[in-house]
Amino acid sequence: MIDTLIDRWHSSFGSNDPDVTVRAPGRVNIIGEHTDYNEGWVLPGAMSRSIYILASRKSTAGHHWIAYDLDEEIESVENIFEYGEYPWAKYIEGAIRLYTPDIGSLQLLVGGDLPVGAGISSSSALVCGVLYALQQLTGRTESKEELALTGQRVEREVIGVQGGIMDQFAIMMSQPNHVMLLDCRTRAYRLISADLPGCRWILINTRVKHALIDSDYNQRATQCKQAVAIIQESFPAVNNLRDVSMDMLADVSLSDTLRKRSLYILEENDRVHQMVNALAMHNAEMVGNLLKASHQGLRYMYEVSCDELDHLADFANQYDGVVGARMMGGGFGGCVICLLKEDVLETFSIACVDSYLDRFGFEPEVILFELGAGVERAGN
Ligand code: GLA
Repeated sequence: MIDTLIDRWHSSFGSNDPDVTVRAPGRVNIIGEHTDYNEGWVLPGAMSRSIYILASRKSTAGHHWIAYDLDEEIESVENIFEYGEYPWAKYIEGAIRLYTPDIGSLQLLVGGDLPVGAGISSSSALVCGVLYALQQLTGRTESKEELALTGQRVEREVIGVQGGIMDQFAIMMSQPNHVMLLDCRTRAYRLISADLPGCRWILINTRVKHALIDSDYNQRATQCKQAVAIIQESFPAVNNLRDVSMDMLADVSLSDTLRKRSLYILEENDRVHQMVNALAMHNAEMVGNLLKASHQGLRYMYEVSCDELDHLADFANQYDGVVGARMMGGGFGGCVICLLKEDVLETFSIACVDSYLDRFGFEPEVILFELGAGVERAGN
């Protein structure tokens, strides 16, 4: 992949190599969905599939940016941003604006093997990768954690999605073969193994992304805040759903919707801790039950799933040799994450693709991955 990008770099920008090349991975999440912006816990990692960012400062005015996979290119004559309707360019522009608005014009080439819109956070990978490339170009020395927080601001202030810190932290700081148990309130984390002997994690991409994702996502975040405001009337010390116990929830009067949303968050936070124990004990049955329960919660209580995700999760959860599966990420499309016995990988993949094709008329994509490192320099 990187060689193809270098070739394209030279054919577009001439014989000089890029000043920096950065690899930014996609994000997977074992469990803990929609808990991050509720100051709860998550268990994400970085995947081996990545976006590469090749970057150089330009001596003449005007940016020149290329999105290799999309075959889109932007050139601005002056030293101003002219990204028009290109969403990818808006993320890059946001990263530059919030981190180093005076950097001057840049040559950038981005590309990789990370599917866009698959719920594996290709947009955060792009933002985090660009921030890291900018840091390398300018010689600044913030910690990766600070860069991750700037990445989150790009999503919130520039893109307008009220996201948490899970994606940016996993993309910036993950280590190979590990996932990170991250406390989204204190931002403390520890790395743990997600290995289960004889098993492997895979993703199955629905290849759909239903339109209203950003507004539905923000609506869920707002509903959680509304629930907190009501709970606070009886329990003033509560600042967030993180502070709410089951007893408190039983004590307050909430609409059905707000009760479902809150209960899901409390239960999902609890599942994260149970998952850590289940993985430490290599208890496959417990891991599977937690994945299944998480999917049910996301489907019926948090209501962020969709037919395609439900079909894949249901199919996987009934398949002999599958430990468990659930939708992953924001929802309304994207991927299912599934833990299965290695010896059924092939038969399961074929059966799952067939059944999905039968039902929806197109194939899902089975994605194999390793748990990889966070953002890093690549190539030069
Ligand atoms: C998206 C957001 C994350 C997180 C997940 C759901 O990926 O970017 O912050 O909220 O959805 O867990």
